[in-house]
Amino acid sequence: MLDVPKEVSVAVSISNPPRIFESVTELVGRTPMVQIHSHNVPGVEIFAKLESFNPGGSVKDRPALRMIQEGLKNGKLTKDKAILDATSGNTGIAYAMIGAALGYRVVLALPANVSDERKRILKSFNAEVHFSSEMEGSDGAILLARELYKKDPEKYFVPDQYNNPENPKAHTLTTAEEIMELLGDRITHFAAGIGTSGTLIGTGKRLKEMKPSIKVVAMEPSQPFHGLEGLKHMASSIVPGIYDKNSYDQHIDIDTDESYEWVKVLARKEGILAGLSSGGAMAGCVQLAKEIKKGCIVTIFPDSGDKYLSTRVWE
Ligand SMILES: Cc1ncc(COP(=O)(O)O)c(C=O)c1O
Repeated sequence: MLDVPKEVSVAVSISNPPRIFESVTELVGRTPMVQIHSHNVPGVEIFAKLESFNPGGSVKDRPALRMIQEGLKNGKLTKDKAILDATSGNTGIAYAMIGAALGYRVVLALPANVSDERKRILKSFNAEVHFSSEMEGSDGAILLARELYKKDPEKYFVPDQYNNPENPKAHTLTTAEEIMELLGDRITHFAAGIGTSGTLIGTGKRLKEMKPSIKVVAMEPSQPFHGLEGLKHMASSIVPGIYDKNSYDQHIDIDTDESYEWVKVLARKEGILAGLSSGGAMAGCVQLAKEIKKGCIVTIFPDSGDKYLSTRVWE
């Protein structure tokens, strides 16, 4: 006889009846929240929002969609223009996916060393890709996007995710509300990694408005060269215009090796094949959990691990 654990149940949801959508863009947001158990701090609960469930596969679908929608609303994005931006990958995939769905050309500047899987995904959506030096990280991509724009400003609509207030606003209007709806009564801390900082700033701001006792925690790689794709080491980077040091309560440095360890634990103990910055989020949350000893931390897992299978984490 098979040894089936008694407490395992198969949840069958009938609360979300099947629906037909006009476009894949309608599937952005309302991602699932999952409790993470494999940490050793019994007084603290950790919950992660699995942003890989967005149609483009990452948290960046939310700001990309909002910035494009605002561009259409204010007339800056017209049919004759291409969407141009600098991106370390996921925002590019989001633009490329949304551009394909809405019928807009997408031109991207990204560091040459982003994973091969990402490059292939962008190609599949027919985005035009320009590579900056791998030595310059995401800053090189920002400078390259500026050069492309300067050569032909009439040709492009530039959402400019690093400086566009609609980036954090996407999270204020969606991510924060979704977290509150599920865990508003319990959440004590919201902790997120920072790239453009849109997720942390936008979500944190609205959570604090709704429940001022919530502590907002920024998690950042401890080194300039960190290998945690999507995250920024602020002290050695071009600081995004939307970044606001005063909008969070605490800052945690995350170690790359520990983050990679967590990527493996998440896959092997939780069944979550998560991206590298999700491992970083867990490394930071566990540090925080050990410090607070009691509470409920909500974090973001920005994307899934399938785009990183060829990176050194899995070698
Ligand atoms: C994998 C990954 N993690 C984290 C982030 C950081 O999110 P944010 O730009 O909202 O700070 C990004 C952003 O591109 C990302 O792609």
